[in-house]
Amino acid sequence: MKIESKLVHAGDRKKAGDFIPVTTPIYTAASYFYDSMAQLDRVMGREEEGPSYARYDNPTNNALEELVNTLEGGGGTVACASGMSAMQLGVMTALLDRPKRIVAANVLYGATVSMLMKILEPFGIETRWVDICDFPAVEKAVAEAKPGLIIMETVSNPLLRVGAMDKIAQMAKSANVPLLVDNTFATPLLVRPLELGASIVIHSATKYMSGHGDVLGGVIVADNEYCGTIRTLSRTVGPVMSPFEAYLTMRGIKTMGLRVERQCQNACRIASWLASHPAIERVHFTGDPSHPDATTIARLFPKNLYGAMISFELKGGRAEVFRFMERLKMIVRATSLGDVHTMILYPAMASHRDLSPKHRARLGIHDGLVRISVGIEAPEDIITDLEQALQS
Ligand SMILES: Cc1ncc(COP(=O)(O)O)c(C=O)c1O
Repeated sequence: MKIESKLVHAGDRKKAGDFIPVTTPIYTAASYFYDSMAQLDRVMGREEEGPSYARYDNPTNNALEELVNTLEGGGGTVACASGMSAMQLGVMTALLDRPKRIVAANVLYGATVSMLMKILEPFGIETRWVDICDFPAVEKAVAEAKPGLIIMETVSNPLLRVGAMDKIAQMAKSANVPLLVDNTFATPLLVRPLELGASIVIHSATKYMSGHGDVLGGVIVADNEYCGTIRTLSRTVGPVMSPFEAYLTMRGIKTMGLRVERQCQNACRIASWLASHPAIERVHFTGDPSHPDATTIARLFPKNLYGAMISFELKGGRAEVFRFMERLKMIVRATSLGDVHTMILYPAMASHRDLSPKHRARLGIHDGLVRISVGIEAPEDIITDLEQALQS
């Protein structure tokens, strides 16, 4: 099946007694009853498939996991309570029996940076930061640090840079270091990191996967080497998704192909409109032919589907950004992305708030930088709203 069909069919239609539900329902039970002790014993011993306790398995979550696993081409998938819990599980999985050192892209989602600096470092896990778009620098950092893990995002947040994931994954394989990719911005529709040689992929399912702004969730997908460990750790530590969120995420994924395609088309149109606006200093967009990583993007992304995130620098600073954002009428000012509605966020105040102003400036996250997640609305309406807010 092509990915558009997998989105709609994978994971569903599991036998539930005498009938088969067409779409997977929400199983709210915390534990499961079997007629015989012998069968329960087999289920508990994993000799027979079946749920026993909700921290170990849940049929709704299992259906979502099968769906995401099919999309990413994984060995196994675990649905998590949030994108950050998936990230934490990924780090624990990789470092369990490896050197407690990480090489990470120096521009990552703010909470990932905070986790590495403020939580893992005090636990003795050191991170060496590297410009992920400078392949020789990544190679050097891995050779010198001999890490137990490399972390990158397919598309960096919020400057939308794209590292050479294919080359990094091959280099990581020959150095015997797992590569963990946060694929939230790209979705498996655009890039499938495991196919390129990554070992672990995570998503904030809160974003494009669920797509409607009503879920907090994450998924972690691992290759054959790590899929057993993500499941074992998840069963022990328990960062599991609620079945209600799993149901909504699965429902969302069925239309992800249509949504993301439309969002990418809208983004191309809006990015070129923004680039010609006099109030805007600079536009960062993966579909821009003059993007600094255009060659890598052409290699990794399908033609004309370059993602639907745009960042742009407004002339002026914080005060101008606040005035512009308050004047928007349709575009939603809120902290998230990937939803059907267009959303706007001020990274210095939201995703990268916890970094010092100096750290932000070093990363190129200036005070005038705004990030838009383009939705599925009519592109004319998005442009009209931006125009009136920029004009007045
Ligand atoms: C790229 C990226 N990764 C991870 C996360 C964390 O996801 P969650 O908020 O679901 O924990 C986010 C959240 O915005 C994100 O943008």
